[in-house]
Amino acid sequence: MIEFRNISKSFGSKNVLKDVSLLVDKGQILFIVGLSGAGKSVLVKHLVGLIKPDGGQVLLDGRDITHLSEKEFYPVRMRCAMVFQHSTLFDSMSLVENVMLPLRKHKGMTHKQAGEAAIGFLKRVQMDHMATRFPSDIGDGLRKRVAIARALTLNPDFVIFDEPTTGLDPLAAANVDRLIRQLSDEQGVTSIVVSHDLRSIFTVADRIAMIYQGEIKLDGTRDDFRNTRDGVVHQFIRGLAEGPMVL
Ligand SMILES: Nc1ncnc2c1ncn2[C@@H]1O[C@H](COP(=O)(O)OP(=O)(O)OP(=O)(O)O)[C@@H](O)[C@H]1O
Ligand SMILES: [Mg+2]
Repeated sequence: MIEFRNISKSFGSKNVLKDVSLLVDKGQILFIVGLSGAGKSVLVKHLVGLIKPDGGQVLLDGRDITHLSEKEFYPVRMRCAMVFQHSTLFDSMSLVENVMLPLRKHKGMTHKQAGEAAIGFLKRVQMDHMATRFPSDIGDGLRKRVAIARALTLNPDFVIFDEPTTGLDPLAAANVDRLIRQLSDEQGVTSIVVSHDLRSIFTVADRIAMIYQGEIKLDGTRDDFRNTRDGVVHQFIRGLAEGPMVL
């Protein structure tokens, strides 16, 4: 279970999040949507201690992790993996070496064991055929798939995907969607997915929360979003240029 309780966060005079509360049950997939700059990435970064709130609490399985020290966050980051919006692969290592790294470091695997396991994780995102290439040789979408493979190596209980299908072709995007669904259905992984991808949102989400002007505008099911009478939510999910939304 992931819980944000009354989170507020400002940068200078800019109030990015105002009293945001959200709860994701075990095995559930919550999508977070909202305009660019709405605070989606800021919100999820609280889960791995990269951002501390000005007010409120962050809980994982009921444990308050808000004020843990950097060192205390190490074990939390093993249970709660984050796939960042922008690539965080090491450029000096091949793709398979990037995926091997956490297996060598935290699972005590030999080079050979880690190599074999890493290929298995790359297969899950259909990237095993590029194992020996380097991050700089491939595009953003492919790097993102490798980052997903790396995030899964430590069998996390929670996975945060920040725009996992942005920059992916439709087939690769559908594959990532299926993977997110499988992690939830087969391994009980609890996920938060930040996304602009309407197709992905309406195929995979168990629940959707929309952030607008620092607050949760709507937290509901796909049907709640489809059938909403709220003008702002309606404009957003239909992608309409005209409407009440303040950009
Ligand atoms: N470390 C930081 N210091 C100062 N301002 C920040 C910092 N991180 C984020 N912001 C600001 O907070 C606001 C929300 O940023 P955030 O990255 O969460 O948006 P987002 O909803 O993820 O947008 P996008 O869809 O473009 O990724 C933006 O105005 C951004 O400039
Ligand atoms: Mg973002």
